Amino acid sequence: MNVDQLKRIRFKGFMAEDEAMRLYELSREASRFGPCLEIGSYCGGSAAYLGFGCREAGGVLFSIDHHEGSEEQQPGQEYFDSDLLDPATGQIDTLPTFRKTIRELGLGDTVIPIISRSVVVARFWTTPLSLIFIDGGHTFEAAFNDYNVWVSHLLPGGYLLIHDIFPDPAQGGQAPRCIYRMAFDSGLFEELPMTRTLGVLRRASAGAPTDCSKMRWAEHH
Ligand SMILES: C[S@@+](CC[C@H](N)C(=O)[O-])C[C@H]1O[C@@H](n2cnc3c(N)ncnc32)[C@H](O)[C@@H]1O
Repeated sequence: MNVDQLKRIRFKGFMAEDEAMRLYELSREASRFGPCLEIGSYCGGSAAYLGFGCREAGGVLFSIDHHEGSEEQQPGQEYFDSDLLDPATGQIDTLPTFRKTIRELGLGDTVIPIISRSVVVARFWTTPLSLIFIDGGHTFEAAFNDYNVWVSHLLPGGYLLIHDIFPDPAQGGQAPRCIYRMAFDSGLFEELPMTRTLGVLRRASAGAPTDCSKMRWAEHH
């Protein structure tokens, strides 16, 4: 199956097709230099596109999720999907759907599931990453934690991708936008064009200041 055939599959999830294609293109480029990592596997929609990109370049994707759903996916909340309830426990469990997606796409040797809270995995992580895609919990605390514990693992030249950035608060929560601004304001990243709500930042090469850090330097001298 190629990526054009992948586009015909409808995944449970929250990504527009052009956003998903951007994940594919960036992971194909980045994964030549090191593993990619996503926070927020859900049912495997974004992992499918990232995984296709990684596979073409001979790389891998680590995909982290506790598979218990975010706040907004719980019963009674806006993005609740009753298909994802485990009848035995009455709790959300996205792992069976995620595994089915990865198996049916033949991505078993490319997409490595990690079933855990993101911050727990990060405590013992040492491998440098070529791309980090943050699409886990959307509260300020969750988004900030994900940014804070993972960003130092990104290789110089690597991509930091953040989903659900809404400039207008009437259109969506502001936590992803907040960590995007935080990353940009650090002076470590250059800003690349967004695709809809997908923010794309690139970590500056070692020793190369970004425009933002040059501006800050100028302000203080
Ligand atoms: C918006 S969904 C991800 C959608 C997916 N990236 C896609 O496009 O198909 C968010 C996911 O993050 C997971 N999640 C939320 N908080 C998490 C945390 N602290 N650690 C790991 N996973 C988390 C939820 O279980 C949920 O499946």
